Amino acid sequence: MKLWAGRFQKETDTLVNDFNSSITFDARMYKEDIAGSIAHATMLGKQGIIEAHEAEKIIEGLKVILADIDAGQVEFSLENEDIHMNIETMLTQRIGDTGKRLHTGRSRNDQVAVDFRLYVKGEIPKIINMILDLEKVLIQKAQANLETVMPGYTHMQRAQPTTFAHYMMAYANMLRRDVTRLEDCLARMDECPLGAGALATSTYPVDRFQTAAALGFQKPTDNSMDSVSDRDFAIEFLSACSILMMHLSRFSEEIILWCSWEFKYVELDDAYSTGSSIMPQKKNPDVAELVRGKTGRVYGSLVTLLTVMKALPLAYNKDMQEDKECVFDAIDTVEMCLPVFTAMLDTLTVLPKNMRNAASGGFINATDCADYLTKKGMPFREAYMIVGRLVNLCIKAGETLDTLPLKDFRSISNLFDADVYQALELKTCVNGRKVYGGPAKEAVEQQIANIQAFVKEREHE
Ligand code: ARG
Repeated sequence: MKLWAGRFQKETDTLVNDFNSSITFDARMYKEDIAGSIAHATMLGKQGIIEAHEAEKIIEGLKVILADIDAGQVEFSLENEDIHMNIETMLTQRIGDTGKRLHTGRSRNDQVAVDFRLYVKGEIPKIINMILDLEKVLIQKAQANLETVMPGYTHMQRAQPTTFAHYMMAYANMLRRDVTRLEDCLARMDECPLGAGALATSTYPVDRFQTAAALGFQKPTDNSMDSVSDRDFAIEFLSACSILMMHLSRFSEEIILWCSWEFKYVELDDAYSTGSSIMPQKKNPDVAELVRGKTGRVYGSLVTLLTVMKALPLAYNKDMQEDKECVFDAIDTVEMCLPVFTAMLDTLTVLPKNMRNAASGGFINATDCADYLTKKGMPFREAYMIVGRLVNLCIKAGETLDTLPLKDFRSISNLFDADVYQALELKTCVNGRKVYGGPAKEAVEQQIANIQAFVKEREHE
């Protein structure tokens, strides 16, 4: 019989039972549901809303149920709709009528809100730790490649020389923002909705500060209607996950390109690549491609929840039951992508020679050539024009700026001297860019130190 059968004269249609039920996916919040119920029962006992011995009996019963679920000895029923009613029904079956007192001063609306928050709150530190592991691999790769010159691109055209270390630290900075975004989101969701009841709290002397503290929240939420109708925390979490996945996807795209014969800047470890069923020569970057592909799936979750919530009047509406699958799927996806991506990057081989060869073509030292003239007193715009003409001349003659004879340089400007060749060396170009944030060795070392400090601060917590 349904918990709410009193008002009804007919059984629920089996189609509706199936349709309405969320137990197939919300069962994964059983720990949070039991923790919420224990906090609630403890508070009911302390406040004298139920007898102390009743509270104890309820808590004992819940603990046994928790152990049984952990041990895989519990089968949930569709008939009982969701994790909340499954556990409550089970409790009453086991401890008798006392179990029926648990739901005093509470509704499933505040119950599901607290369970879901606790669940997401618990996953965020796991994701942060996974990002920090990736940061550590980026630091190692950067340290090993401080002088690995490669082309930097704009519009996918070779632009200016940089190093692989500088490149890695760019991603390290993106990921640092992902960590702080998740931390912000965690701090903002640190308020407990329990005690909000269906929407308007209750007439019992429920102590919301007590339950909030018992469940590890900073404080109770301020408005009971908002408490049961708010899913901002989940949307914010999905948004942080989407941005994180966007970063991994961009990185994946680069790795895929770098693995191609056209680039061959890196080679993936055999353990992190796959072959083809027909082409014997193939070594495919499937892991990077799948991370890129799964990014769409996480964006999908964000759009799902935004759309579910977009026209909901206050307070709880059943539509909101649709909040969980998308969030769980995003959590599973992110938690699957991060470790495999980290391992793939960790085992990847860098091919500095190919990077250097690519850096020697494409006139990526042209800006430096203009800077050379500027340092000799010429205004930059003029120098820029002259180097443009030089590049044109090189293309016609099949030369590069490094191989062009001095007399040709001087035919365009007599400010050029023999020292121009040294100024155009890729190493000089990179090491000259010592500006804070730049690619010179010492500038990148500073970037590494900043990320190292960031990771260390969090490892102490
Ligand atoms: N299974 C429901 C959900 O996920 C729990 C809350 C149900 N509340 C209600 N009044 N029907 O949202």
